[in-house]
Amino acid sequence: MNKFYNSIQDEIATLKKNRNAIILAHNYQMGDIQDVADFTGDSLRLAQEAAKTTKDVIVFCGVHFMAETASILCPDKKVLVPDLEAGCSLADMIRPEDIREWKQKHPAGVVVCYINTSASVKAECDYCCTSSNAEKVVASISPDKEILFVPDFFLGTYVKQKTGREKMELWRGYCPTHVLIQSHEIDKLRAEHPKAEFLMHPECGCLTKSMHLADRILSTEGMVRYVHESAAQEFIIATETGILHRLQKDHPEKTFIPASPQAVCSFMKMNDMEKLARALENLQYEVKVPKELADRARLPIERMLAIV
Ligand code: 13P
Repeated sequence: MNKFYNSIQDEIATLKKNRNAIILAHNYQMGDIQDVADFTGDSLRLAQEAAKTTKDVIVFCGVHFMAETASILCPDKKVLVPDLEAGCSLADMIRPEDIREWKQKHPAGVVVCYINTSASVKAECDYCCTSSNAEKVVASISPDKEILFVPDFFLGTYVKQKTGREKMELWRGYCPTHVLIQSHEIDKLRAEHPKAEFLMHPECGCLTKSMHLADRILSTEGMVRYVHESAAQEFIIATETGILHRLQKDHPEKTFIPASPQAVCSFMKMNDMEKLARALENLQYEVKVPKELADRARLPIERMLAIV
């Protein structure tokens, strides 16, 4: 921290003002980052906030594909990340050539990609989706079309079941953090907290085993909204543990139990307050998707935003 400031929070607030910047934080970010952000939310909400901001600089506290999405939607803005190494293992499980190969074999097929994909993968796809709108996006596609859903197998399984879609092929990617959440731990917690509601993210690796037990299967933002409306006092939360900060802050009177305290995404936690301050001070590290690629990758994102 620079010695002219009383706290790192002060420094970030001053630099943010001087840079005419907005700070967007994913629900999995560390609590202190969530607390200084202008918006904390899920992938969809953050993409929407990025798309409508009038600020010159967007500091994206999340992982790389999220900043790329902001750059695609706001080509004239400077999009920064506090740590360039903050990637996404799930996004890395699919490559543009995988999509091109599938399309060659299925020329009339439609490819739906989860937002957790690189810009170069999005550029090959027809529709994008997030965990909060995947069902709606797939339901909007004509039933006679063959679909490839990439890269998350568990979200794909959930959507396939909800839409009753037969001709839907699923890529076998997974989130290494969400697979740490095990069904036997959930069973144990449900027995210990019989009054708790059980909320589950569709990326959970135990989705196929525990889906029928969940009170709701929701995106992170869906969980925030659900808790707000529910009369329950206790919740078992099956997703990355960063969300607990937001839930507890919004509802100090309620109790939130992580389905697995080990479900911590090390990439999400690479950002910290010091790196955020340096991002604003030095305008680093810029994520800029080249125009030709951004123009192609924007299409599936805009199709999604038109549906939701
Ligand atoms: P949401 O932000 O859509 O809840 O999904 C979380 C996520 O996929 C981060 O990897």
